[in-house]
Amino acid sequence: MKPKIIVARPIFDSVIQRLSEHFDVTDNQADHAWTKATWTTALAHHVGAFTTGSDPVDAEVLAACPTLKMCANMAVGFNNFDVPTMTARGVLASNTPDVLTETTADFGFALLMATARRMTESEHYLRRGEWTQWRYDMFAGAEVHGSTMGILGMGRIGQAIARRGAHGFGMKVIYHNRSRLSAELEAECKATYVSKEELLRTADHVMLVVPYSAASHHTIGAAELAQMKPTATLVNIARGGIVDDAALAVALRAHQIAAAGLDVFEGEPKVHPDLLTVPNVVLTPHIASSSIQTRLAMANLAADNLISYFTQGKALTPLNTLP
Ligand code: GLV
Repeated sequence: MKPKIIVARPIFDSVIQRLSEHFDVTDNQADHAWTKATWTTALAHHVGAFTTGSDPVDAEVLAACPTLKMCANMAVGFNNFDVPTMTARGVLASNTPDVLTETTADFGFALLMATARRMTESEHYLRRGEWTQWRYDMFAGAEVHGSTMGILGMGRIGQAIARRGAHGFGMKVIYHNRSRLSAELEAECKATYVSKEELLRTADHVMLVVPYSAASHHTIGAAELAQMKPTATLVNIARGGIVDDAALAVALRAHQIAAAGLDVFEGEPKVHPDLLTVPNVVLTPHIASSSIQTRLAMANLAADNLISYFTQGKALTPLNTLP
């Protein structure tokens, strides 16, 4: 008898096939929209789960799923997991670090460029048929090359963005993080450690790459937006809830900062209605890691974590150690 696992959302057929060699797989290739209650009912009686960042595994879900032994998240972020409760209940957790670093950094940089250079705002203008002639100040945006980029959160993705900015675009890179990088890494990323206040006050572009936790909730709110330059841009590729989206919409409308690029939202897939009507914002639906190669690598790593744990007792990229 193969162990029973559930795959919460549709995934590459090849990954379902690989998993089926080792497991009795319940899939959701039909993409049924499970509420938390139907997800919990579906998960019960399985020993393993292949989850995405939108599938909750919290104390309530865990209490209803006593047979569960492992959850492999197809995401580097894991704020959908209550890891301490998983550990206490003997449930192993894993995520998919590294395989998405460069692709996510590419997207962070793309969003920065699109935001600073007003690409979607100008495209909407063109599509509306309003473009009648060239003008010297048409959609004049902010300079990217040679400007100062402030990176909040200097993990692997933050560092990959720093390298792009410093080495590719001649940017001055400043960063703030819970812990300072080694001198070698700072030199390699050409990044200078500063306080959060100095970063907000001096950066031309603020890039958010901090993981979400109760402590990082609303890292950027009205007070922080007020510290930024009126010409500054803000890019959030981290998680919804890192930014107070309502406060951001107010700041954008008042031109307290110049523009924002957002790939993640508080309460996504819902988007704050005011963000949908302010023009100076670029919005994308949580796709920073979404290249075909990277999504396949993430899915295979999540599958490898399940296979490795159930066949050899060890996950490749675990988030907890069980007592
Ligand atoms: C995406 O947001 C991830 O955490 O991988």
